[in-house]
Amino acid sequence: MSPAPLQGPVRIGLLGCGVVGGATVSILTRHRHDLTRRVGAELHLERVAVRSADKARTVDLPDGVVTADPWEVVKDPALHVVVETIGGIDPARELVLAALAAGKHVVTANKELVAAHGRELLEAAARSGADLLFEASVGGGIPVIRPMKESLTGDRLVRVMGIVNGTTNFILTRMSDEGMSFADALAEAKALGYAEADPTADVEGYDAASKLAILASLAFDARVLASDVQRQGITSVTPEDVAAAHDLGYEVKLLAVAELDDDQVAVRVHPAMVPKTHPLASVRDAFNAVFVEGEEVGELMLLGQGAGGGPTASAVVGDVVEIARNLVRGAPASPGTYFGRDARIRPPEEARVRYYLVLSVLDQSGVLAAIAGAFARHDVSIASVRQEGSGDEATLVMITHTSTEGRHQATFRDLADLDVVKSVRSTIRVEGAPER
Ligand SMILES: NC(=O)c1ccc[n+]([C@@H]2O[C@H](COP(=O)([O-])OP(=O)(O)OC[C@H]3O[C@@H](n4cnc5c(N)ncnc54)[C@H](OP(=O)(O)O)[C@@H]3O)[C@@H](O)[C@H]2O)c1
Repeated sequence: MSPAPLQGPVRIGLLGCGVVGGATVSILTRHRHDLTRRVGAELHLERVAVRSADKARTVDLPDGVVTADPWEVVKDPALHVVVETIGGIDPARELVLAALAAGKHVVTANKELVAAHGRELLEAAARSGADLLFEASVGGGIPVIRPMKESLTGDRLVRVMGIVNGTTNFILTRMSDEGMSFADALAEAKALGYAEADPTADVEGYDAASKLAILASLAFDARVLASDVQRQGITSVTPEDVAAAHDLGYEVKLLAVAELDDDQVAVRVHPAMVPKTHPLASVRDAFNAVFVEGEEVGELMLLGQGAGGGPTASAVVGDVVEIARNLVRGAPASPGTYFGRDARIRPPEEARVRYYLVLSVLDQSGVLAAIAGAFARHDVSIASVRQEGSGDEATLVMITHTSTEGRHQATFRDLADLDVVKSVRSTIRVEGAPER
């Protein structure tokens, strides 16, 4: 049975009023008239919970709205919608579960929470006939969740590749443009506010892994957890790698890749060489992009600002509007089945990959034959090889054809043991390049 259409304003409670919460208040205030017209009812912000009620805010909040007790918000019987912008798992998970149990609709920007507890939260939403929307949790202001849930749901998606972390994309862009070291580019990102004081979650790929888990769960309609994602950050990328990538016609990007093959899901986050002709190579600075491949639709890319108050709050308010329109029409919620069945995760060593590698080698005869032998032993074939320098400086720059991760790693171990190889200086996966 459908709920009765709502009469009067849509009453909203906000948890957190920091970067995203503050920008959400700002949009609800500045766009009030447009939003009322688009929804057919006023969106009324009734309560705002923060950690420190006395802290100065960038937005004006009416007297009596602010509380330091988030439970006051989730327990307030007058509210229809709770917007969670606190972040992290505790207490966000308990608060969202309590709001859903009380029949309130929930909007969250929290990728960590959705990636780890999406199934539990959607089940709780379904039990009480509420909506749980999380457009802002991946790609900030880029509409990516809704296209996956709705527009592309008639298709069968086979691959999603994303640049989903603005901090690392900014750092890699600076390394690419200026030949900077990782450390210098990180320092600049911190100075400009693109990186946090502790950048671990970004530069080690944890943030991207949470976002990829959500994208993969939606794309393949099967629950993928952040802990399922094979993860490597960008701290070991050198200016030499970036320069060599340029010479070969590539850019180095931190990619989040999810693939469906034989009903198995492969999920990985790692630096990758992407051909300059690929749309993802031109995604610069703190921009994000999600590149989707479907059996019917082919290739498409969504691009935009993946973080920041305004862009992220734009996605949050979009979700609030969807819920508000349902309330006004008396339409039932549709929580969806993503995260429902467990994905069969492909073991990392079975992932199908290509690699770029740089070997420091002795400059003598027989080197190439010994190296080719190591590749042949593990059935990895070489797509291209180029010698650079001579004498002590001799290096081989190689790109492989597609084979498994396990075979590549076994080849790299054998190469490192060869007398003619002084060191395996660099190994970076190659994505988005046609096999030749
Ligand atoms: N920032 C972005 O660009 C961005 C982009 C996409 C998604 N997100 C996601 O959005 C969420 C919020 O991020 P943010 O950058 O807005 O964080 P933030 O600026 O640190 O804001 C967090 C807010 O939550 C409040 N808070 C913390 N613990 C609380 C508690 N126990 N009870 C009540 N309020 C509490 C804080 O209160 P005080 O102000 O009093 O300290 C603050 O207002 C996170 O899940 C994040 O991953 C952020």
